[in-house]
Amino acid sequence: MQSTVFLLVLINVFIFTGTIVIRTDPQTAQNDLDRDFWNRDHVRRKRYLGLNKKFKLNKRYQECVGPGDAKGHCKHLTFCPIDVLTGTRNTLEYLCVIEKTFVGVCCPDDVALGGMIGSQLIMDLPAGGEDYDIKDNLTGCGVPSEARAIPGGVAPRVQEWPWLAALFRPQDLAEGLEQQFCGGAVITDLHILTAAHCLQGVSAQEIRVRLGEYDFSKSNETRFRDHAVAEIINHEDFVSGTYENDIAVVKLTQPTTFNSYIWPICLPPIDLNYENENAIVAGWGKQYFAGPESEVLLQITVPIWELSKCSQSFLQRITDSNICAGAYEGGKDSCQGDSGGPLMYQLENGRWVAIGVVSWGIGCGDKGNPGIYTRVDKFIPWIIKNTIAKE
Ligand code: ARG
Repeated sequence: MQSTVFLLVLINVFIFTGTIVIRTDPQTAQNDLDRDFWNRDHVRRKRYLGLNKKFKLNKRYQECVGPGDAKGHCKHLTFCPIDVLTGTRNTLEYLCVIEKTFVGVCCPDDVALGGMIGSQLIMDLPAGGEDYDIKDNLTGCGVPSEARAIPGGVAPRVQEWPWLAALFRPQDLAEGLEQQFCGGAVITDLHILTAAHCLQGVSAQEIRVRLGEYDFSKSNETRFRDHAVAEIINHEDFVSGTYENDIAVVKLTQPTTFNSYIWPICLPPIDLNYENENAIVAGWGKQYFAGPESEVLLQITVPIWELSKCSQSFLQRITDSNICAGAYEGGKDSCQGDSGGPLMYQLENGRWVAIGVVSWGIGCGDKGNPGIYTRVDKFIPWIIKNTIAKE
């Protein structure tokens, strides 16, 4: 509340004085993502969970100098933590203009990547839906459940990962052949993020997506829902020989309902460095190489490898569109059947983001061979284009 009033005052001052020095060069307007893409109208669609009714993108516009001479980028006011500016001598000095239309502020880059901005970015990414039945005021994607993560491959409590999806063939399930063949992550009420290699030669009609599941052997511990699939969207540049661009979106025929069992995870902020940090992977896949699948959703905490170390460990090409994760000493990894499921990372603001998609590995949990994941932030424009921008 307070800050909104403050911002409005700022905007008015700016508009009516006109003598403020703006420390920016509009010619340098750039950002990580394809500018034209973001500016097109089609991204302004309803499945965004925005902060304001009026849609503004949390993106970095032109480079500028922020408080304390810090290198920054011009951003919409709502996307820069207000503490960054309070205490500076002359806040007006840090105003800048966004695309000749909006007043923005020069937000230092290190702040932008650390905390709040991450959450704002993911607020702008797909995670819509009306039917929130979480009672506190934590809404939006990636909200943690009360249950805390238990490291070490222990079964999580029911509802802990409400964005986990299981892809299965009703026929296999009925015949007791295979409960599910891949995992996925709910990113909107209509879309599941998964791996392209899961869906090669698979038709939309033959599969279902189970949401809100926890234990396949029990039928009433959660309120799971099986969704039919309208469309399978594999990345056009997926290469089956190398698993490059191993990412896909599955579109449901009917939007799901969000509740305490089914909830979307956030897409990640762009370009965070996760090396040597921990992430969690969860799935119903095999419990060890060539072993049985798990009826209960399992999870494991895995450290993220330095990419250079990871590529030294493989003959295969590891690119910056990959994340490698697995215990350095071996024994903690995803495995067959976990593919397509999310590698989850908790931002400082408490939200969970899907930073990776389980893609491939050599064996499971072998020392020196981490699991290989598709690095989701490299595909955000692709994801937007194939989800909400398509509606
Ligand atoms: N390609 C596998 C699947 O289809 C995923 C394997 C992941 N392996 C690993 N060691 N992390 O399920």
